[in-house]
Amino acid sequence: MCGIIGYVGDSEALPVLVEGIRLLSYRGYDSAGVAIVQAAGLIVAKDKGRIDELAPTWDRRVLAGTTGIGHTRWATHGRPNRVNAHPQSDASGRVAVVHNGVLENDIALREGLERDHGVTFVSETDTEIVAHLVALAPRQDAVSVGVRILSLCEGRFALAILRHGRPGEILAVRRGSPLVVGVGRGETLLASDVRALAGRADRVVELEENEFAVLTREGVTIYGADGARKVREPVAYVYDESKLGKDGFPHWTLKEIHEQPERLRDLVAVRFDPVHKRTRLDEIAVSDADLAAIERVDLVACGTASYAALYGARAIEAFAGVPARVVAASEYDASPAVLGRQTLVVAVSQSGETADVLAALDVASKGGARTIGVLNVRSSRIAKTVEGFIDIHAGPEVGVASTKVYTGMLLSLFALAVKLAEVRGRGPSPLERLLPALRALPDQVERAVGAGADLKDVVRDVQRAEHMLYLGRGPDHATALEGALKMKELSYIHAEGYAAGEMKHGPIALVSPEVPTAAIIGYGEHRTRMQGSVREVRAREGTVIAIAAEDDADIAKLANRVIRVGTTDPWLAPILHVIPLQLLAYEVAKRRGCDVDQPRNLAKSVTVQ
Ligand code: M6R
Repeated sequence: MCGIIGYVGDSEALPVLVEGIRLLSYRGYDSAGVAIVQAAGLIVAKDKGRIDELAPTWDRRVLAGTTGIGHTRWATHGRPNRVNAHPQSDASGRVAVVHNGVLENDIALREGLERDHGVTFVSETDTEIVAHLVALAPRQDAVSVGVRILSLCEGRFALAILRHGRPGEILAVRRGSPLVVGVGRGETLLASDVRALAGRADRVVELEENEFAVLTREGVTIYGADGARKVREPVAYVYDESKLGKDGFPHWTLKEIHEQPERLRDLVAVRFDPVHKRTRLDEIAVSDADLAAIERVDLVACGTASYAALYGARAIEAFAGVPARVVAASEYDASPAVLGRQTLVVAVSQSGETADVLAALDVASKGGARTIGVLNVRSSRIAKTVEGFIDIHAGPEVGVASTKVYTGMLLSLFALAVKLAEVRGRGPSPLERLLPALRALPDQVERAVGAGADLKDVVRDVQRAEHMLYLGRGPDHATALEGALKMKELSYIHAEGYAAGEMKHGPIALVSPEVPTAAIIGYGEHRTRMQGSVREVRAREGTVIAIAAEDDADIAKLANRVIRVGTTDPWLAPILHVIPLQLLAYEVAKRRGCDVDQPRNLAKSVTVQ
């Protein structure tokens, strides 16, 4: 977690660091800070809060200087407050450190520094340890410091270090957390994500595992953990996402909800060949013959991606008849898995940087499984770890709560399920039957997005609730979970999603007139059973908001309110059904005055386990 930015060059560092922190805020935003090298020493400004609140309080004249480091934090060690914010310094203030990741031997290092060197710690962070370790050897050159830090510190981390007396120098260290160096004209930059270098660097080079680098105005020199110099030239870098804007929408989240029809239109065109009626997934790097030999599929993911994966597992079983399960990536090492070449492990992730998913992939490859990704960021670590991946093609998602990537994941996993069916089946592809529904889907999504204004009454019903229930069945069990997560994340209303049939086994005790229930109705047998669940809730004086197809005449007699969407194939319906739930969560959050794009306590990309 956390974002690191560094600058050394001819310009004032502060504005570059502030902009970098802003661009990296998706990695956490509970506090932020900068450190700048000046002739008299290092000067630090930091506090709890978001960069847009903090930056105006930082005086450019006081924080003048052309070498500096910056940080945006998602708390792991210690509460989000000024003391625990980065940069962390040693007692003399001659060293400043920013850090992303976790030191795993922090207790031993901390106790050693207290016992052997009389160090008194002021923060609860593990980062402060590094500042004290560096300060113990003030005359060491940067290469010796880099070697020493990598040999003393265990865990997964990225560090940027400034030292007094080394005005034009930043030391960057990487083990497990990403760091990329950008080279521009008369300046060199460092960042956790290449996106933060947009507009300044024209060449970039990524630090690899167990490497450190010394950045100066003239460029970068990279070293291995033993201090041996590595020759790796920066490569050309062009990034036009710096042109990204909200296009008049008040929030990124709303803009991204509105982008869905277009993104899905592109994805349908890319994935489904209407002429040959076959699914195109050429990038996954597993041959059709190998795919046909797959005996089981494990999908590993977190949060919203895990709900998409739940849908994916059901679709794979339904279309291809291959046993498939979804495992929370953080539990994969604790879930006995049958691995080997006949197991396909599918990592589903927007950012491609989620540490739990990377750890699950490690288990998968050690067990000899085939690995693929369903990813939205081509340059991500997961993209580099898996054998091949399905690109979600959603474009950058800035809102912390996932919206357009969720529907992109559903359609991508649908494509994988159909592909598995094609390579294993002898008959025609299921696409023969599904193509008309696929073609119609983006327009139906567009209508559902456009119907946001009709939600006013429902928003009023929900906005003062403290608790909510979401019920769905079959392919829409995932929709219930995702709808509830969106409501929780955006509006802070406590919301739980359930497979509707589970209600009677306990959660029904929660039903009351004050607890609205969103019921996703579905088709066929699912529809009949969902009607039963709606009746059960109404019989206990619960209020039901149904999400149902436009031609479902019965539901209006059962539910208190009905949100209508188009009629499609049951396996494509979750893509349609989630749209009003996204809009509802967004509108309710807005009414409740919540920070829609950056909800409290969250981060867009969770890079700690
Ligand atoms: O980048 P990833 O898709 O791997 O992230 C997984 C989860 O952290 C993410 O989906 C999270 O649940 C979002 N806040 C959902 O809106």
